[in-house]
Amino acid sequence: MFINCFTERQLNFISMRRRRICKFIGSRKGLLFLMAILPVFYVSWQLSQVVGEVFIPPPPLDQVLHHFRANRSLVHYLDNINLLIEPSSICQQKVPILILVTSTPSHHRHRNVIRDTWGKHQETYFFLGLSQDDDRLADAYIEAKQHSDLIVHEFNDHYQNLTIKVALMLQWTLHRCPQAEFVFKTDDDVLVNPNTLKEVIRDNRDAALFGYKKENSVPHRDEYTKWYLPRWLYNEDLIPEYLSGTGYIISGKNLKEIFNTALRIPLINMEDVYFTYLVANRALGLPLIHERRLSPYKPWIFTCPFKNYASMHSLSPEEMESIWPRIQNLGNFCNYFTSELLLY
Ligand SMILES: *[C@@H]1O[C@H](CO)[C@@H](O)[C@H](O)[C@H]1NC(C)=O
Ligand SMILES: *[C@@H]1O[C@H](CO)[C@@H](O)[C@H](O)[C@H]1NC(C)=O
Repeated sequence: MFINCFTERQLNFISMRRRRICKFIGSRKGLLFLMAILPVFYVSWQLSQVVGEVFIPPPPLDQVLHHFRANRSLVHYLDNINLLIEPSSICQQKVPILILVTSTPSHHRHRNVIRDTWGKHQETYFFLGLSQDDDRLADAYIEAKQHSDLIVHEFNDHYQNLTIKVALMLQWTLHRCPQAEFVFKTDDDVLVNPNTLKEVIRDNRDAALFGYKKENSVPHRDEYTKWYLPRWLYNEDLIPEYLSGTGYIISGKNLKEIFNTALRIPLINMEDVYFTYLVANRALGLPLIHERRLSPYKPWIFTCPFKNYASMHSLSPEEMESIWPRIQNLGNFCNYFTSELLLY
């Protein structure tokens, strides 16, 4: 009555089972069934599109790290990378703390929120490479002119090039701001609490390097994780110690020796393991001081513990904006013990 699937003659040739299915599709019940199932198919198809976009694995990182097979000398990269944009006047006076933020061309929103919140409390600069997209360079020029806090180098901005970016940061600091007493390397998803940061620095006056120390970590050998560290770059089974790259501080006094030593240590893609462990600790013998207030985590309660964090990681620009005013009002409300107890 509804759909005439096959002609009588065709029906003679097909099995009983197929006939039943065909009859069912042709019946009123069948039509209702189809009408019920179609939206389900449609929704699952849409979902699979969305999920597919999010979870399609990136190309194996071994390909992305290909250039390290050709040359792992930092000199080789630094010699070939031009400085494109930098502020015209920097570090005019005494600089107790210089904050260097690894950012990426598309993260304007992150940078703007940092500028409006913790960034204005001390000298803070953002380091970028170039994205594939040509317009971004023009955007960067405009942003740099407006804010005088961008340093852009001519190399491909990619997570696996972070070691090169941090090397460029250190090189730039040695040229342009050698008087900085301490250099804080951090990321654009980190919220800094400037008052606690001052305390942290005061408490570690004599340290060469301090941050959140990770001990006996097992390198990721799975090619599809962001933190993949292949055996051909780092052959040992453990990383004895390093400071988390979400925020570590180098004393200005040690900056030059760390940078110069890096020039002769073969590069790896993990910036924090490279600079804090391979270069500073293993090659130079500098102790890595654990400072839990420079947290690589996001606090699980947004009250008193904040007061005791100098930095916290993994915050979206929106979260930073909403938490910032609260941090500033915690002073009278929280005493040392509630903060200390709740810190992890
Ligand atoms: C890597 O680059 C450096 C500096 O440009 C050069 O001296 C060295 O010979 C290169 N190494 C290899 C393996 O090509
Ligand atoms: C990292 O930068 C180097 C030097 O500019 C470049 O050869 C390499 O392709 C970049 N890596 C990625 C993954 O883009």
